Amino acid sequence: MTLPSRLAAPPEEAVRAFAEDVRRDLRLSPRQLQSKYLYDALGSALFEAICLLPWYRITRAEGRLLTRWGREMVAGVRGPVALVELGCGSGEKVSLIAGQLRERQRPIPIHLIDISPAALELSEKNLGKIEHVSVVGHRATYEEGLRRAARERPEGSTLLVLFLGSNVGNFDPPYSQMFLEEIRAALRPGDALLLGADLVKPEAELLLAYDDPLGVTAAFNKNLLQRINTELFADFDLSAFDHRAVWNARERRVEMHLVSRRRQDVTIARADLALSLEAGESIWTESSYKYESAEILRLGAGAGFRPAGQWIEPDARFALTLFAAP
Ligand SMILES: C[S@@+](CC[C@H](N)C(=O)[O-])C[C@H]1O[C@@H](n2cnc3c(N)ncnc32)[C@H](O)[C@@H]1O
Repeated sequence: MTLPSRLAAPPEEAVRAFAEDVRRDLRLSPRQLQSKYLYDALGSALFEAICLLPWYRITRAEGRLLTRWGREMVAGVRGPVALVELGCGSGEKVSLIAGQLRERQRPIPIHLIDISPAALELSEKNLGKIEHVSVVGHRATYEEGLRRAARERPEGSTLLVLFLGSNVGNFDPPYSQMFLEEIRAALRPGDALLLGADLVKPEAELLLAYDDPLGVTAAFNKNLLQRINTELFADFDLSAFDHRAVWNARERRVEMHLVSRRRQDVTIARADLALSLEAGESIWTESSYKYESAEILRLGAGAGFRPAGQWIEPDARFALTLFAAP
């Protein structure tokens, strides 16, 4: 019997890279873990649940913008289009864009890029319900997936890269600039980038989005320790950690932390690491930077793009910006 890929053991190479990153990042001060590792099969399922929470409004706000303005967005991109989505999650948003292109061309080539096999499986299933698409999934980081999709672009097509869900907010500002430059360098004149970014809003609203009363985001965060226990043979006691979300106003980011409730020792066998955590010491697991709308335009322009349109959802305060590659 073969297990679905989301349940199969991760490839040896991926486990080795995970172990190396965990070993390096947990020895930093403050201690850290990279947010891309939040998304194993359970992490991806918990993220889908987060998208349904009343307090996490990003997914619905972006969906409303795509439904209302998607036709106008794709009208700004000429020629037969090939879609590339970086960090596709459930694939529901790329489905909305594909729906807008349906009358213009068939089939629509789509490259899905995600580090999580569970997310790829779900998005391939969701896109499988649409007849006029041809889908290629890449289990890869954004950077590697982008390079592959650019290499495999169908001749004569225009690439429309989707970077949605405010995934860009997980990067610190210097890296978001560098990554947009990397996207620009992978594109040709006439190609485009559609960037979704969450906007600054009142602190109380932001904290509820990342620390919900049902504890789903806490489970999503703590699951990273469980993943390390399973894949790297560690002995984190999950009940000895609290989930904490903090609005860092100076840096304009929500930070997620796992805070040790007591002094404790942890061993991570496959990372060859033994840790002693003090009571109150935290492990920083994710940053979600929040933007001003004009700042997003500057970010794209600084990477060599020409802003071609910006749509803002006024209730949840979320922006979609279309950038053209000149
Ligand atoms: C916050 S979710 C957003 C999903 C989707 N874009 C949306 O808007 O609902 C981030 C997605 O990107 C993937 N991801 C996170 N970091 C990644 C990385 N460095 N490279 C590739 N995929 C990544 C995760 O597995 C997850 O599916």
